[in-house]
Amino acid sequence: MKSFHIITFGCQMNEHDSERMAGILKGQEYVQTNDAATADVIILNTCSIREKAEQKFYSELGRLRSLKQERPDLTIAVAGCIAQQEGKNILSRAPYVDMIFGPSDVAKVSELQRLAKTWSNPLIEINGDPDYHRKQIPTLRADRLKAWVSIMYGCDNFCTYCIVPYLRGRERSRPPADVVSEVRELAEQGYKEVTLLGQNVNSYGRGGHDPVDFPGLLALVNDVPGIERIRFVTSHPRDLSAELIVALRDLPKVCESIHLPVQSGADPILTAMNRKYTRADYWDRIQRLRAAVPLIALTSDIIVGFPGETEQDFSQTLQMLREVEYDSVFAFKYSKRPGTVALKLSGHIPDDVKEARLAQVLDLQKEISRRKNAAVVGMTLEVLVDGNSRKGGKLTGRTRGNKAVNFDGPNSLIGKLVMVRITDAGDSSLSGELCA
Ligand code: SAH
Ligand code: SF4
Ligand code: F3S
Repeated sequence: MKSFHIITFGCQMNEHDSERMAGILKGQEYVQTNDAATADVIILNTCSIREKAEQKFYSELGRLRSLKQERPDLTIAVAGCIAQQEGKNILSRAPYVDMIFGPSDVAKVSELQRLAKTWSNPLIEINGDPDYHRKQIPTLRADRLKAWVSIMYGCDNFCTYCIVPYLRGRERSRPPADVVSEVRELAEQGYKEVTLLGQNVNSYGRGGHDPVDFPGLLALVNDVPGIERIRFVTSHPRDLSAELIVALRDLPKVCESIHLPVQSGADPILTAMNRKYTRADYWDRIQRLRAAVPLIALTSDIIVGFPGETEQDFSQTLQMLREVEYDSVFAFKYSKRPGTVALKLSGHIPDDVKEARLAQVLDLQKEISRRKNAAVVGMTLEVLVDGNSRKGGKLTGRTRGNKAVNFDGPNSLIGKLVMVRITDAGDSSLSGELCA
């Protein structure tokens, strides 16, 4: 039997693509290994969202050169978003790559077996299978309780900083019946939680033939017996509908939690980013969410140092963080991406300024997160028990708001929903006591 090893660089979608490649290869009698040094096949599943992700990939690829020299029968494949972006250009830097295929062509991984015999001629597939969203792809999942389920591919938003629409193509939704049958299968296998994945889940179904929209899909998934929790990423604030707020309020399995990236708190920057909402629109959606679901957990993405961002603009982003009080945020320095509109804007910000702004965002948010965590001390919360925590053999799990909680209890509770009284709060996790 041959073995494969996958190194994943990107977002949840990229990780899920790795699970799909693993599923396809397992069906061909390959076995997965964590050891790159002995694997027959190494797949680099790449990400191009920021320069840093790209650099990480190229340094990993460089390290593989010597491995390939030692073992010429090693097969090296480059998948994911940089494969899509660069195609055969990857070969000019790394002629020892055997196969290159994009995110809508993960099924091509099935040709590795044939390729392994004739690798002198690299295989490149970046055309994008136009039927990918209608296909059922075998999946070997990393987790046994929580599963990612793709509901749509691509993005039509063209935020001016973002490379994703150029790499993942136009928005395509999977048929609702396919999504529901995948979730049913997961429930039969014992999965308790599903996270529905798409770059812009709120526009699910748009332009398709099925009348089911995203809140409608949530209702269908909510009806699947055995599944206890439903989450979803990512929601574009512009497309957050009144119906979605009702679904969050009324569907019992849909967790009270939403990732709603604001990116910036300043209107001129939001316009330049092509986000199609204003600071006031965003704030209005937060108010409506909280009116319907008072304890909803809110998280966000922030970009600092977008071209033209003044100190005044930046202070509005800090102000937004103070006003919304997110549970946590992911913050990034703006990174220049090839082919995007923002690259050609004037007013690019020096790196030391971006660095300083990023530090301010992280410091402020740390204080807010700490306060938000402390606010749940004393509450009794539902926790899905994931397994054992790294420190001290305790159990660990997640609240519906997706906060990590550590507590004592028997391993027989793994996979179960339990009630835990929160006794203490740290920066990034909570501690508690199991309720009888
Ligand atoms: N579709 C999702 C996720 C996109 S990528 C969404 O719209 O939220 C995840 C995050 O990466 C984005 O929200 C954005 O904050 C960040 N990002 C994307 N392009 C970037 C760039 N060029 N520089 C810095 N951060 C970027
Ligand atoms: Fe990128 Fe914007 Fe699409 Fe998200 S919504 S993937 S940030 S273009
Ligand atoms: Fe990266 Fe592609 Fe995801 S660029 S963030 S792996 S969509």
